[in-house]
Amino acid sequence: MTPLIVALDFPRAELALAMAARLDPQQCRLKVGKELFTSAGPALVEALQKRGFQVFLDLKFHDIPATVAGACRAAASLGVWMLNVHASGGRAMLEAARAAVDQSPGPKPLLIAVTVLTSLASQDLREIGCNADPAAQVMRLASLAAEAGLDGVVCSAQEAGALRQKWPDLLRITPGIRPAGASLDDQRRVLTPTAALAEGADYLVVGRPVTAAPDPATALAGLIAEIESVHPY
Ligand code: C5P
Repeated sequence: MTPLIVALDFPRAELALAMAARLDPQQCRLKVGKELFTSAGPALVEALQKRGFQVFLDLKFHDIPATVAGACRAAASLGVWMLNVHASGGRAMLEAARAAVDQSPGPKPLLIAVTVLTSLASQDLREIGCNADPAAQVMRLASLAAEAGLDGVVCSAQEAGALRQKWPDLLRITPGIRPAGASLDDQRRVLTPTAALAEGADYLVVGRPVTAAPDPATALAGLIAEIESVHPY
């Protein structure tokens, strides 16, 4: 299996299913985020899984520990491959999430922490009472996630190297991927798939370079060829 996770950033189930029909579950996993899940719900996740796809449920849970534990149990019972929570929810919340996933019957999803959203700069952090700069805050929250036994973190490729050095076993899931020469869309800092893997990313989240391409399967094959030229899978 390749490290590619295609982000299904669509408003409705039929659009997501039409995209999935053009992709091969042997070549990528799929990410379902807040917009699609809010509109299409668990039935869409089940439909994607029935077609053979492994699903990253990107709902970034952040609430009191008991509520997050319940949400993680519900996600695990859906059979998703990966789910995530905000590390800034604190140690007790992370530990409750870990326990909920560990105690769920059936295959255990990977439990991943979001550290600092890449949309937040130093000034935004100061406004919410955090005086650390974003890079230091990422390391602090990754440390908390590692101590609570989470399986990995979502991070920019720029952070992946430092994270790998400190916590080699913590998986690194990296968005902001663009094939060489592609449109940046609204991403500011991007890396090619091979550069992100070299920086230490384990999984690559790719949205529009595949989903907005005239032929998504060809775009995906291009990304895989780019990766396989360096990393055989
Ligand atoms: O279309 P694009 O490749 O930019 O999509 C990237 C996906 O990764 C989107 O679903 C976006 O929400 C998500 N993401 C991101 N940056 C983060 C965290 C998640 O782009 N820091």
